[in-house]
Amino acid sequence: MLFHNILSLASFIGLSLALPKARSSNLDSNPVPGESPLFATYTGKPTPIPANYTRVIPATASGPAGPDDLLFQNLLSAEWIIYSFYQQGVEAFSPSSFSDLGYPNSTYDRIAEIRDNEAGHIRIFQDEISSTSLKPGPCNYSFGFDNDPETFLALQVYIEVNSMAFLTGLVRESNTTDTSSALVAVAEVETRHNVWSLIDIWDVSPFAGPADTVYPYANQILALTNSFVVSGSCPSENPEYPYPNQNLPEIGFVTNTTTGHPGSKIQLEFSNDPGFTEGGDYYAVFFHGVLNISVPFDIKTNETVVPGEFDKGAGIIALAVADEAGAPTENSVLAGPLLLLQQPEKLTLLEP
Ligand SMILES: *[C@@H]1O[C@H](CO)[C@@H](O)[C@H](O)[C@H]1NC(C)=O
Ligand SMILES: *[C@@H]1O[C@H](CO)[C@@H](O)[C@H](O)[C@H]1NC(C)=O
Ligand SMILES: *[C@@H]1O[C@H](CO)[C@@H](O)[C@H](O)[C@H]1NC(C)=O
Ligand SMILES: *[C@@H]1O[C@H](CO)[C@@H](O)[C@H](O)[C@H]1NC(C)=O
Ligand SMILES: *[C@@H]1O[C@H](CO)[C@@H](O)[C@H](O)[C@H]1NC(C)=O
Ligand SMILES: *[C@@H]1O[C@H](CO)[C@@H](O)[C@H](O)[C@H]1NC(C)=O
Ligand SMILES: *[C@@H]1O[C@H](CO)[C@@H](O)[C@H](O)[C@H]1NC(C)=O
Repeated sequence: MLFHNILSLASFIGLSLALPKARSSNLDSNPVPGESPLFATYTGKPTPIPANYTRVIPATASGPAGPDDLLFQNLLSAEWIIYSFYQQGVEAFSPSSFSDLGYPNSTYDRIAEIRDNEAGHIRIFQDEISSTSLKPGPCNYSFGFDNDPETFLALQVYIEVNSMAFLTGLVRESNTTDTSSALVAVAEVETRHNVWSLIDIWDVSPFAGPADTVYPYANQILALTNSFVVSGSCPSENPEYPYPNQNLPEIGFVTNTTTGHPGSKIQLEFSNDPGFTEGGDYYAVFFHGVLNISVPFDIKTNETVVPGEFDKGAGIIALAVADEAGAPTENSVLAGPLLLLQQPEKLTLLEP
């Protein structure tokens, strides 16, 4: 409360308040997500996360790991990536970076507030990991937006739908109902971030049909986010991320021969050989909403067709190549997934 008043006063009299100073009061040395404006409405450039939480936090007790420690270690490593994307944006841009391009003048503040929420997720996930397990620290990250606000805004949509999708899968791994509920609560917030940009930035309908896309194998999506991690930059104490990692080939596609929308032919490209054997049966398995549709996959052309049955312009379609129709097990997936963004349509051909 005190901190909030200081902030309001500072903005009223036009002062820019240096955060570390404000933190020297006992009240805010250890801000709590759900109580502190630092994780909700703070718009300063310095990180809202206290310095003693922006690092690897070793286990402080010995004994068995908590029931969902592994899940929260994976999720915390993912969250360092997502939070850092926004923190880098807050540091790189100013309100006029966006308003000069015609975006609403609230854009910068919204991005700062989303940064705050993601910082709150960091603190929540750290606290969910029990004292018998290590809490992974941040690596260095490169998102390639290169100080360009429009590239940043396009990546923002991709990053939010990516996290919405892996959260639907992570719920299946949780060992406690408290964890399942916390994951849904966090997914709802990521959705709000996506809805904000669909309305305010992209000026499209925010709705994606009756259900967002369930992709059951969360670690396969987490593995995709490793492309933002500067290689060799993670603290040596960090566990492998994600754990376990199937190290599947990534799927790209030839962008100038498809719309990426339902009904369109699409030619896939693989980052390395998925291990196809002549004469084997392979399937492109498309996930949308709570459905999946399998289409035989021809390894002679690597071409398939995005199922025309799916809703147009809604959410995402996730595509895996599998050696069984329906990709019924994690091990049946040979490559992917590829997340085909359907909304806004103009970003469908984005390949981060
Ligand atoms: C960080 O510092 C705060 C304030 O001194 C303290 O309450 C908290 O336990 C510390 N946490 C860690 C992980 O060092
Ligand atoms: C759930 O519990 C099992 C058995 O203790 C453990 O092997 C597994 O890693 C736990 N899952 C997560 C996501 O932490
Ligand atoms: C922001 O935009 C709104 C609506 O366009 C306008 O009413 C408001 O005065 C603007 N605020 C600033 C600080 O420019
Ligand atoms: C990570 O970033 C820090 C701070 O910018 C820098 O000093 C360090 O060299 C970077 N490490 C790697 C491996 O890129
Ligand atoms: C698509 O782009 C590739 C280069 O990336 C080019 O070789 C090919 O001719 C293009 N195809 C069409 C149909 O434009
Ligand atoms: C299809 O993908 C496989 C695996 O990456 C590759 O070896 C093959 O050359 C591709 N075929 C075509 C026609 O692109
Ligand atoms: C795909 O759908 C089929 C048919 O409904 C179902 O049996 C299968 O488990 C689904 N695959 C996954 C990975 O959920």
